[in-house]
Amino acid sequence: MAKKVLLTDDITGDALDTLKNEFEVTVGSPGYYNNEDRLAEDIAYYDALLSMLTNPVSERVLKNGENLKVVANYAVGYDNIDVHAAQKLGIKVCNTPGVLTEATADLAMALLLSTARNLPQSEHYLRQGHFIGWEPKGFLGLELRDATLGIIGMGRIGQAMARRAKGFGMHICYHNRNPLPPEQLTGLEAEYVDHVNTLAERADVLSLHCPLTPQTRHLIDQNMLDRMPGHALLINTARGPVVDEQALAQALHEGDIGGAGLDVFEQEPQVHPDLLSAPNCTMAPHIGSATHRTRKQMTHLAVTAIIDILQGKTRPQTDNLVV
Ligand code: DGY
Repeated sequence: MAKKVLLTDDITGDALDTLKNEFEVTVGSPGYYNNEDRLAEDIAYYDALLSMLTNPVSERVLKNGENLKVVANYAVGYDNIDVHAAQKLGIKVCNTPGVLTEATADLAMALLLSTARNLPQSEHYLRQGHFIGWEPKGFLGLELRDATLGIIGMGRIGQAMARRAKGFGMHICYHNRNPLPPEQLTGLEAEYVDHVNTLAERADVLSLHCPLTPQTRHLIDQNMLDRMPGHALLINTARGPVVDEQALAQALHEGDIGGAGLDVFEQEPQVHPDLLSAPNCTMAPHIGSATHRTRKQMTHLAVTAIIDILQGKTRPQTDNLVV
């Protein structure tokens, strides 16, 4: 009998056909499994789960997965999965690292450029018919050359962001659990800063690239926002809860920082109403990895992991096995 795979939402890429040829695949309707009860109820039937980052793969869900061998998360972040519970239960967990690095760094850079040059407000102004001619003092923004970019989380995406920023003439500082070996940062002249507070005080732009963990939840809180210079920008393409959104909205409304570029939100899909009305805030609906090429590669990685694990093959030498 064919093994059964639950794919919780429709995804793109030829690799999906391979999965469908090998196994009995059920595709959930968009958003249906963003609900723990539904996932916990249906999971018992499946051998593999190809989950979205919006699916709560909790201990209860995993315990109900009596036939479940693997959860392949369609994302590099896996804070939606109780990895410890999976490990205890002997269920493998995979993610999609590497293939979304450049796409996500592109979006972080796009948010940075847009926020630095006041694009949301100036576009709105133009569309509203307020543009009556070139203005010598209109929409003055931050120039990137010689500005300092502070990166929190110097993993693959943080480094890709640093490479882009370097091309714009920015100075790079970073904070990470540990400094990286200099050979990994060749050409970036990136300076390690051993405390996030110091990084917040020094950076003209603070860009978040760390995973969401108990230690990074609300890392950017009122205290950190107070430390940032009044003109500084905050860019978040990591996870919404790394930022205290209420505190950020207040800082933007009160002009305590210069602006924010956000791809992720604390309570997705809800966006804090005070952020929606905040000045100089560029926002996108969690589209960091949303390019045709990247999403196809993510499908390939997730599908390969499921096929290998369900067919009992030793995992290939890729690094997408979390546990
Ligand atoms: C990820 O892969 O974790 C991203 O947030 C998806 O866009």
